[in-house]
Amino acid sequence: MTEKELRVSKIENGTVIDHVPGGQALNVLAILGIDGSGGEEVSIGMNVPSDALGRKDVVKVEGRELSQNEVDVLSLIAPRATINIIRDFEVVEKLRVERPERVKGVLSCPNANCISTGDEPIESTFDVLDDGVRCAYCDTIIRDDIAAHIDV
Ligand code: CTP
Ligand code: ZN
Repeated sequence: MTEKELRVSKIENGTVIDHVPGGQALNVLAILGIDGSGGEEVSIGMNVPSDALGRKDVVKVEGRELSQNEVDVLSLIAPRATINIIRDFEVVEKLRVERPERVKGVLSCPNANCISTGDEPIESTFDVLDDGVRCAYCDTIIRDDIAAHIDV
């Protein structure tokens, strides 16, 4: 994309999550626990034309780097995302997301009787399958709309 076409301005320091499937940007923010109330400086491009994806979303978060756990969960909704670490306006690192074997503490189990959803201080844990995730405690599988089970 040329400078002339740039829709969302460059950021100085922080993280750009690029090549997110069109329409998933708000779910990316949910994974990062950002709802605006914390005062974070965020820019979003939604359904922007992309050579590789047709349409893509882009999320730019000023002053924030992502944890491995956040990147792992991102991979479930944006398997082709690129994570760009920006310092002093330059891309200093470009990471590809990888599908993890397990994700902990970010999704909540839909089974109300699951031990991970009760009063016990048990961190939710899901094994990642080819076509969804499976609760490590009760074997409930989430296949569709994983983003709806993000626990923030
Ligand atoms: N970016 C930004 N602020 C900066 C530098 C880069 O917001 N100071 C954004 C760019 O707009 C782009 C992403 O970070 O969305 C990656 O930047 P860059 O690597 O320069 O772009 P491309 O080469 O197009 O990236 P890729 O090869 O990953 O598609
Ligand atoms: Zn469960």
